[in-house]
Amino acid sequence: MRYLTVALAKGRMAKKSMELFEAIGLPCEEMKDEGTRKLIFVNEEKKVRFFLAKASDVPTYVEYGAADMGIVGKDTLLEEGRRLYEVLDLGIGKCRMCVCGPAEARERLLHHELIRVATKYPGIARDYFFRKKHQTVEIIKLNGSVELAPIVGLSEVIVDIVETGSTLKENGLEVLEDIVSLSARMVVNQVSMKMEHERISRIIGDMRALIKKREE
Ligand code: PRP
Repeated sequence: MRYLTVALAKGRMAKKSMELFEAIGLPCEEMKDEGTRKLIFVNEEKKVRFFLAKASDVPTYVEYGAADMGIVGKDTLLEEGRRLYEVLDLGIGKCRMCVCGPAEARERLLHHELIRVATKYPGIARDYFFRKKHQTVEIIKLNGSVELAPIVGLSEVIVDIVETGSTLKENGLEVLEDIVSLSARMVVNQVSMKMEHERISRIIGDMRALIKKREE
């Protein structure tokens, strides 16, 4: 039997994802060693291997079939726009994509002024402002700590993820508009879905049942 390969977004979500895999009988002991620098982890018995990748690369590995399936945030899926099957909402890592800024920016947004928008998600920002709102803005791509942008005057607003809201609050910013709700999703390579249909649909089914049970 060939190995089934699963790509996980490294960081907070990887740990939560592995808890779910363990709960459906696909544990991976090697991965629990927090000091490890290994990138790939194997469950020999079940012939499944897991690897950790940068979140934005997970859809790429899955689209090209280097991973049969993956777990990644909806934010990354929307931004990357890869060809793959999104099969399940795992209900973990729940947060929102929002337009945020200082309270004063609310008026400027309302009046469709030509404002600057800093974000790690230029694709999502473009789609929201240009296609949904028909509002012309200048989008500036950043790679992290996006909340800094309106504070130091790089942009009027940001498009970013809000989870607890504490980063915004501690920096004098607020949610101005909601774009979309986010959570972790299971994704599957389109060819693997056919070639490994039995194993993959069992995993999807077990995961779906587990999530349903947890939500009850
Ligand atoms: C994310 C996001 C916000 C923060 C939101 O950042 O970009 O900055 O978390 O969480 P909160 O609403 O609970 O405060 P992340 O930690 O991924 O870091 P980065 O933006 O620097 O990449």
